[in-house]
Amino acid sequence: MTPVSGFSFAFMRLLEAFRGTAIQLPNRVVMAPMTRGRADDTTGVPHPLTAEYYAQRAGAGLIVSEGVWVNRTGKSGPGIPGLVTARQVEAWRAVTKAVHGQGGRIFAQLWHAGRVSHPGVMGRTPVAPSAVRQAGRIFVADGWRDTVEPRALGEGEIGEVVQDFATAAVAAVEAGFDGVELHGANGYLIQEFLAQNTNRRQDRYGGSVTARLRFPLEVVAAVAEQIGAAKVALRISPGNPENDVVEDDAKEVYSRLLAELRRYELAYLHVIDTPEAVALSYLRPLWPGTLIANLRSGEPTSQDEGESLIESGLADAVAFGRLFIANPDLPARFALRAPLAEAGHDVYYGARLDGYTDFPAFEPGSAKFACSARS
Ligand SMILES: Cc1cc2nc3c(=O)[nH]c(=O)nc-3n(C[C@H](O)[C@H](O)[C@H](O)COP(=O)(O)O)c2cc1C
Repeated sequence: MTPVSGFSFAFMRLLEAFRGTAIQLPNRVVMAPMTRGRADDTTGVPHPLTAEYYAQRAGAGLIVSEGVWVNRTGKSGPGIPGLVTARQVEAWRAVTKAVHGQGGRIFAQLWHAGRVSHPGVMGRTPVAPSAVRQAGRIFVADGWRDTVEPRALGEGEIGEVVQDFATAAVAAVEAGFDGVELHGANGYLIQEFLAQNTNRRQDRYGGSVTARLRFPLEVVAAVAEQIGAAKVALRISPGNPENDVVEDDAKEVYSRLLAELRRYELAYLHVIDTPEAVALSYLRPLWPGTLIANLRSGEPTSQDEGESLIESGLADAVAFGRLFIANPDLPARFALRAPLAEAGHDVYYGARLDGYTDFPAFEPGSAKFACSARS
């Protein structure tokens, strides 16, 4: 067989099944969590097409849903769904049923946005570990606005947010999700507790590394107690400056975090890293459990990058984000080294329904797939 970009067709570790202690996957191509902003902005109920959208992508070894808010203050922007009300749970049940009907598996990503929100989103001042404003601007229903200073959570309120994660996890299981992924990445509430520039607290939740780890570990403990650790995963992005977090002591913080998490047999740990795999190289030896990796760079994580993450042992499975938007059958295309369609940035988010469920599966021999195509 002819090698393509250094890999032969016979050499596709991404398409091998994976058997972890808590999770079994028919292939190692995971769909990364991606906010698409198509939910009803008032009710937080997923759009009726969301079931079809995820069912089209059920060939993934695992689907991680878009981030879903665990309470109203934790909503980051327009059209983001929740997992709190009975109507939201009911709508998600249709989604999980559709995915399972296509033979897939789906985890819900539980999300509290922390300071990365705005009063224009839910009429509430965002909350955070400390009253430190995020640099930059934020998108709300009527356009881009300057960020606002968040309100520092009181100690009692922190316990309530921990409980909100646990309650949402129970709702996720009721809705038929196979598990939950806690969103501890990209500068939202969980990471804001870990990072020194966003956590200036001097109480039990801030100051020392032990104190900064307290909130994330309380969330993991509360959720695992409710639904069992085997259904719980955590996504982290060590040292990732997204949303204006600064983690100068990432190596120490995340090494300590993993040491604490090893007492649970979590479904998996999901690490967002750079193509240079800086964090993975020190975290992988510390994590004997299942590890899913995703790369953060200007370009979408590629098949070859995924193959080398598996081959090097840095990851057991690889999450692909942007490629899944326009390629619902991504694992099948990887298997064939078929051409990949591209989605324009304009369809990533928003109430619009084009660019959501209208990307077709690959048809061998069809010339239109030689270039970016949407039906
Ligand atoms: C449209 C869009 C929405 C995203 N929403 C989320 C999200 O809800 N939760 C999350 O953890 N990451 C989110 N991400 C980040 C992706 O999960 C992933 O880390 C990123 O796209 C890099 O992977 P890629 O190169 O394969 O696209 C989003 C990315 C995109 C492009």
